[in-house]
Amino acid sequence: MEKHLVAPSVLAADFGRLSDDIWMVNESEADWFHIDIMDGRFVPNISFGFPIMKILKEQARKTLDVHLMIVEPEKYVERFAEAGADVITVHYEACTHLHRTLQQIKATGAKAGVALNPHTPVSLLETVIEDIDLVCLMSVNPGFGGQKFIYGTLKKIQELKNIITVHNTSTLIEIDGGVGLQNAEKILQAGADVLVAGSSVFKSENPKETIKRLKDIGMRNFLV
Ligand code: DX5
Ligand code: ZN
Repeated sequence: MEKHLVAPSVLAADFGRLSDDIWMVNESEADWFHIDIMDGRFVPNISFGFPIMKILKEQARKTLDVHLMIVEPEKYVERFAEAGADVITVHYEACTHLHRTLQQIKATGAKAGVALNPHTPVSLLETVIEDIDLVCLMSVNPGFGGQKFIYGTLKKIQELKNIITVHNTSTLIEIDGGVGLQNAEKILQAGADVLVAGSSVFKSENPKETIKRLKDIGMRNFLV
């Protein structure tokens, strides 16, 4: 089994000293930056947009994983790709023509992701799994950081892992919302590849150390 990835969510950073937080992540063992874009329509909150993307593109030294929580995401795919996104994830619930939008994302050179709200079954992706580089399973209702992990997600991870195995694709499973040191091991055991962590990293006493501990989970399996 390959080592899982850790993606700190910028939403929980201190925007008054964003550069410091970006550099902390650069120097940490984190693999990606997770970037939450909210439009106040798909979700009941507005986060940030292109000015912050510009700072990230200039200063971040790792993969930019952009999670679009917006309606009609197809209108902004190219702009986010130009803004530096390496992975562009759209919501299943926001796409009338999901297959077309996935091809549109790939045409920009970015990896194509699909996010599912907690109530949306993973079986809906079966017909299109071969076109998806990453599935983001929301383990909270999207819109806010700092919410409680919904444990029903563990079953969805296993079901999705099955679909990926049957279709023999290299689709990554990303878990987003309420992830921390208290539940990361269970999430990884269920089959996750990427852990998004917002508050559990940035609100901890030593964020760099928390990232390291999230990375180290499962290590002992290699040692015994
Ligand atoms: C929620 C966002 C998450 C959020 C996670 O809508 O998609 O990425 O930043 O934050 P935590 O880890 O605090 O739940
Ligand atoms: Zn997110």
